[in-house]
Amino acid sequence: MKQVEVLITAPMLPSVIDALEREFMVHRLWEQSDPAEFLLAAGASIRGVATSTLFGRVDSRLLDQLPNLEIIASFGVGYDNVDVAAAAEHGVVVTNTPGVLEDEVADLTVGLLIATLRQIPQADRHVREGRWIEAPFPLSSTLRGRRIGIVGLGNIGKGVARRLEAFGAPIAYHSRSPQPGIPYRYYQTLLTLAQSSDVLIALVPGGGATRHLIDAEVLAALGPQGVLINVSRGSVVDERALIAALRSGTILAAGLDVYEDEPRVPQELIEMPNVVLLPHIGSASLQTREAMGRLVVDNLRSWFERGTAITPVPGTSNCPEQQ
Ligand code: 8YV
Repeated sequence: MKQVEVLITAPMLPSVIDALEREFMVHRLWEQSDPAEFLLAAGASIRGVATSTLFGRVDSRLLDQLPNLEIIASFGVGYDNVDVAAAAEHGVVVTNTPGVLEDEVADLTVGLLIATLRQIPQADRHVREGRWIEAPFPLSSTLRGRRIGIVGLGNIGKGVARRLEAFGAPIAYHSRSPQPGIPYRYYQTLLTLAQSSDVLIALVPGGGATRHLIDAEVLAALGPQGVLINVSRGSVVDERALIAALRSGTILAAGLDVYEDEPRVPQELIEMPNVVLLPHIGSASLQTREAMGRLVVDNLRSWFERGTAITPVPGTSNCPEQQ
């Protein structure tokens, strides 16, 4: 397949780039001195794109420049970085990387929840900054007795729920419709879930449909002992409303892995004592990122060898749900 030309839109794990280079003729868009010029000259030869959730949006503008594109393989389970409708219109299949990262993200979510409630990073700073000598660390809040509300019960949401069951926490959820065979209480509206929860965990996909789903009203419903955990997409939470709610005591605390304008994190959040901030590391262990990378390469190989993708997203051409 060395003659198949694949465009990588932005830097990826070196092992993924190496694997792609072993199989395809690879072009690195970010290394082109003039990317626009490059696309004009070479765009028609490109048959595959490898891209990642965090960099390089693939939209109709880029698709127009790649008239012979067949597949976009995206690194990440969320694919709000790809305009799937435009890809479908162009007859281009889009793949993501489900099945290899859900446990990792669920583990991290529980870690972030406990870190936020028990103030683990703050306590670590207390020791490092020599403050323990002067005074004990203040008492923290707790997971004990807290009702958990999960927003979006996909595979990661289910993984988080299973883990939190072992902690003895009562679990409820909100999603577009109730899921069959699920033992947790379903709330038809996010507002009623927030009213009945002490912790809200956002686990819905990003994109237009979920933009600012968690807004001032939902945060007010969560209440003064409430904790928000977001490991999904920054766009899901109205960040200005969250900052206001944390400042005014409308909610107690937040644990965030994602932000509206990554990697920029609002200074207000950085300065707040009642938030734990992570740099979008939900899936970021070496093993999991390598597994995600292998799936990107496997999808491209499968497409160019057999004409089918392994993990196409709903709405693109060879997705089984569409056939
Ligand atoms: C990564 C993610 O941050 O899977 C997702 O949707 O957000 C993450 O796993 C991302 O893929 C890194 O580019």
